[in-house]
Amino acid sequence: MAVILAMAGSAIGLGNIWRFPYMLGEYGGFAFVLIYIVATLLVSLPVFVAEVVIGRRSRCNARDAFVRLAPGHSGFWRITGLLPVLIPTIIASYYSVIGGWSLEYLVKAFQGVFSSLSPEQSAGIFSGFISSTWTPIVMHLLFFALCAVVVALGVKSGIELFSKFTMPVLFVLVVFIAIYSICLPGAWGGVEYIFKPDLSRMTPRTFAYAMGQSFYSLSLGMGAIITYGSYVHKNENILASSTGTAISDLTFALLAALAIMPAVFAAGIEPGAGPGLIFQSIPFIFSKMSIDMPWISGVVAVMFFLTVVVAAMTSCISLIEVVTAYLVERYHISRGKAVAAVSLVCGSAGILCSLSFGPLAGFTIGGKSIFDLFDWVASNILLLLMSLITVVFVGFVMKKDDVRDEFTNSGSLSLNRKVFPAVYFLIKWVAPVAIAVIFLTNFIL
Ligand code: PHE
Repeated sequence: MAVILAMAGSAIGLGNIWRFPYMLGEYGGFAFVLIYIVATLLVSLPVFVAEVVIGRRSRCNARDAFVRLAPGHSGFWRITGLLPVLIPTIIASYYSVIGGWSLEYLVKAFQGVFSSLSPEQSAGIFSGFISSTWTPIVMHLLFFALCAVVVALGVKSGIELFSKFTMPVLFVLVVFIAIYSICLPGAWGGVEYIFKPDLSRMTPRTFAYAMGQSFYSLSLGMGAIITYGSYVHKNENILASSTGTAISDLTFALLAALAIMPAVFAAGIEPGAGPGLIFQSIPFIFSKMSIDMPWISGVVAVMFFLTVVVAAMTSCISLIEVVTAYLVERYHISRGKAVAAVSLVCGSAGILCSLSFGPLAGFTIGGKSIFDLFDWVASNILLLLMSLITVVFVGFVMKKDDVRDEFTNSGSLSLNRKVFPAVYFLIKWVAPVAIAVIFLTNFIL
């Protein structure tokens, strides 16, 4: 059970609260949401199952899992197995920058900054913060250090403790904020933006980014779920835990969008404003709340950012854990040393990402800032590539009987036995074709 919580902890994080709302604002509104939901159910969920199967069957870290399960231990799996080490390193670097932003906003909430602000003032606070040099870097390093300490303490004691209590609190807060946000004057446009059928904003990019977001949000295509899968107990139900995680992750994302988008419209913020979207709109919500409900707005603001920070931590912890598990098992070094090495690399790369919102804003590669480049390469390219390799591996390299055996707990779960042919079909044919097509779309846009 604890591993399931850890998997949900990995999945639910800034991907839902920060990335999903701004992505849907930038890449198609309703069309994005629609493709996101379909992609999650038909492609990401099968990929999730495939990762848990690989992890639980191999019982080892994400890189060696492929080598261990591949008959003949071919060199190909050795090389591709390096992706689960490279991708989390890239993601953790910039993820931690946004984790740092959340931490800064938690501090601001404590100080009671979010009261009686106009939309312009909220935007001003945000742009002043991210364009400065030092504070975002310090916050990024602080956030990373917090996560690194939890990982260094060991998977069980650290991660479980964190996931158990904060998720339900965050859930209640997001529902509360969503209801409040929808009731703001001028907010209805935001609800329509998400749910009113309108495909006019759909472009090839909508497909590419929605699919990438779906993998990102479920922590797929980089070894986190393989690593956690290797800790999943043999009598745990893979179908139930995968579906449970996917549905709760989807629900969180939609609720976060419902909390953010109406406020974006009420405040007159541009929906395609990019990564700063929630940091501009949420303070506006709390400011309004401080007038309507002065007795609770401060507490809600603090609790909200506190739980967001914890949700972000459980996700970042899973990223660090993947690389740490690999370093420890492969090079027989201590956990502490492995975590120190990861921290050094990600901490430094994150500094560059952080600076790309300020002093290095003018430095772009192919039209993308360093931060955008990290995010794009990881989410739109590497996660898809690794997911493609994963489903091809389970569909074509592993023996079907082994996959069935793992999925049905040696045939003991009757529902799993019944749905296995459909799930296997999705893993073997639907997911690879869909991922390959979307992957190529990225290059012809
Ligand atoms: N899924 C996490 C989130 O939604 C982010 C993440 C991506 C974590 C990839 C691990 C791996 O915030």
